[in-house]
Amino acid sequence: MSNDGLNSATVAQPESARSPQQRPHQGLVILGIALVLIAIVLMVWLFRPHTDPYTESVLQLDGDANNGRSMFVMNCVACHGQWAAGEVGPSLRGVSERLSRSQLIHQVVSGETPPMPKFQPEARQMADLLSYLEQL
Ligand code: HEC
Repeated sequence: MSNDGLNSATVAQPESARSPQQRPHQGLVILGIALVLIAIVLMVWLFRPHTDPYTESVLQLDGDANNGRSMFVMNCVACHGQWAAGEVGPSLRGVSERLSRSQLIHQVVSGETPPMPKFQPEARQMADLLSYLEQL
């Protein structure tokens, strides 16, 4: 009975006492894990979200904020207020500090947040509107 502790102490071989030769596959395992990690990173990079072609073409254009202002007056002031300070919809002052350019485009064309309707401006018009929004 009193020998139990002694026996297990002598039988158990601590991990650190084993020499590397007794674990010949360790290097391979580490290499395998590294390869799997590299593969995962590669997949994530390959399948990263692409901006859609519409957003892409809007972002390539240099918008005219004056035209954008006209568009805003025609389409947006009813909800966002004459000077974008907010009515039914929220104030858009400094909105480009909260949202990225693609998020702004998405907000306008997606119609995902009713009651704000889904707008379908041409890329050129959207670029104009975008540069107006960025000035707010
Ligand atoms: C019928 C009312 C309405 C009209 C018209 C409208 N909006 Fe909106 N808009 C809203 C509402 C309501 C929200 C808030 C949606 C939410 O987040 O739930 C909003 C949100 C937004 C936001 C995001 C604000 C933020 O801080 O997240 C932007 C940008 C925006 N609108 C731009 C526009 C532009 C540009 C137009 C014109 C082309 C427009 N809106 C027309 C009602 C409207």
